[in-house]
Amino acid sequence: MSVTLVIGTQWGDEGKGKVVDYYSKNADYVVRFQGGNNAGHTIKVGDEVYKLHVVPSGVIQGKTGIIGNGVVIDPEILLQEIDELIQRGKKPKLLISDRANIIMPYHKILDGAEEQFLGDKKIGTTKRGIGPCYSDKVARNGIRAIDLIDKDTLHRLLARILPLKQKMIDIYGIKNKLDEKEILETYNAFGKRLEQYITTTHIELNKAVRKKKNILLEGAQGTMLDVEFGTYPYTTSSHTIAGGSTIGAGIGPKTIDEIIGIVKAYTTRVGEGPLPTELLDKTGEHLQKIGHEFGTTTSRPRRCGWLDLVVVKHSCLISGVTSLAITKLDVLDGLSEIKVCTSYSLHGETIDFFPARIDDVTACKPIYKSFKGWTTMDSSSKKVSDLPKEAQTYLRFIENETDVPIGLVSIGPGRTETIEV
Ligand code: GDP
Ligand code: IMO
Ligand code: MG
Repeated sequence: MSVTLVIGTQWGDEGKGKVVDYYSKNADYVVRFQGGNNAGHTIKVGDEVYKLHVVPSGVIQGKTGIIGNGVVIDPEILLQEIDELIQRGKKPKLLISDRANIIMPYHKILDGAEEQFLGDKKIGTTKRGIGPCYSDKVARNGIRAIDLIDKDTLHRLLARILPLKQKMIDIYGIKNKLDEKEILETYNAFGKRLEQYITTTHIELNKAVRKKKNILLEGAQGTMLDVEFGTYPYTTSSHTIAGGSTIGAGIGPKTIDEIIGIVKAYTTRVGEGPLPTELLDKTGEHLQKIGHEFGTTTSRPRRCGWLDLVVVKHSCLISGVTSLAITKLDVLDGLSEIKVCTSYSLHGETIDFFPARIDDVTACKPIYKSFKGWTTMDSSSKKVSDLPKEAQTYLRFIENETDVPIGLVSIGPGRTETIEV
């Protein structure tokens, strides 16, 4: 009987897949509303592991997955993902917004070309064409899901857009020649295969809201990758914060009942850009190893550091987070000391907000509070009071500092390794 939004409060990979899968048991619809296959959401059920990039995580629990209008879709990847799920006996119930923008071959070429051109000033994107696709959407040069189905429309759009894109590709000195006929045939064929799923998802969702169905909105990336409130320009190209969810799903802002912010018990980041609490020492390596911190999408090692509560508070503020889900607490097992950043020192001044200037973020030195660690936690714990006393203290501190209650604690990748508070 509610609309629940789940978002990442850090730099992505907080465990959104796991948490969304967990809450999907009560959902009728699970909706992706932004991002594309730059995301990689992992779900572990028993011995089975699923890594989803575009398909909403709720399909693993057999719920209807909606790919909302705010998502950018690489149809080839989406079809592969659907086929793989079918092969694994998890045929997804799926609806795709007719308005979702399509990642075209030139988006991927240009993503790579821009990154190469920037050299050591690159963003460190996933090279999935995300930035160029969102740029085209805003520049009104996008191709949308509905356009793939009708060959004449697609032809007309390609005839207008491809010469522009070819010019850009040539400027970068890339050898690719965009073949209009080949792209038309290939993408129209993708459209024909996806036609069965493409619909007015915003109408379906609004009907569901009126019928008081349970809707779970699944964020991708995290607040610090938001194009407005993240570590700009080292961000993705969509709105990962709560405000992006209603635009990207086509429902009104007042429909959202609960906003769950996922907080990994430490911090990770893939790609370039500042990370104030980064640990370039043995502890950082330890977190990476124990937490298996390697990208789900690109396999790149994730940079690791202590939990940064300036970041989490920034996220809670911007998105109006109503409860926290703390994940990967078990990864902190065995550390004698655990640190949490509570403020920054910037040019000799103490600040407790996240600065806008990227050079200021780089200059920020974290100010830490230190906690005593614990030996190990029992992965079958069902209550917070079953956890080691030191872990309980750590959780209470996060709650007090953010002034947001914890609703869930995750102590392992599996569905059952979850404590509802
Ligand atoms: P997402 O992008 O936010 O969905 O996160 P990813 O799937 O990219 O990365 C999270 C990783 O941590 C995945 O491999 C999960 O299986 C794993 N994971 C999630 N929650 C926990 C947890 O509480 N403990 C441990 N050890 N692993 C977890
Ligand atoms: P999930 O949903 C972590 C990062 C990239 C890069 C920046 C821009 O699994 O949490 P892009 O390809 O989006 O233009 O890259 O954003 N990035 C992610 N980092 N998790 C993700 O998704 C990410 N999606 C993009 O590494 O730094
Ligand atoms: Mg991920």
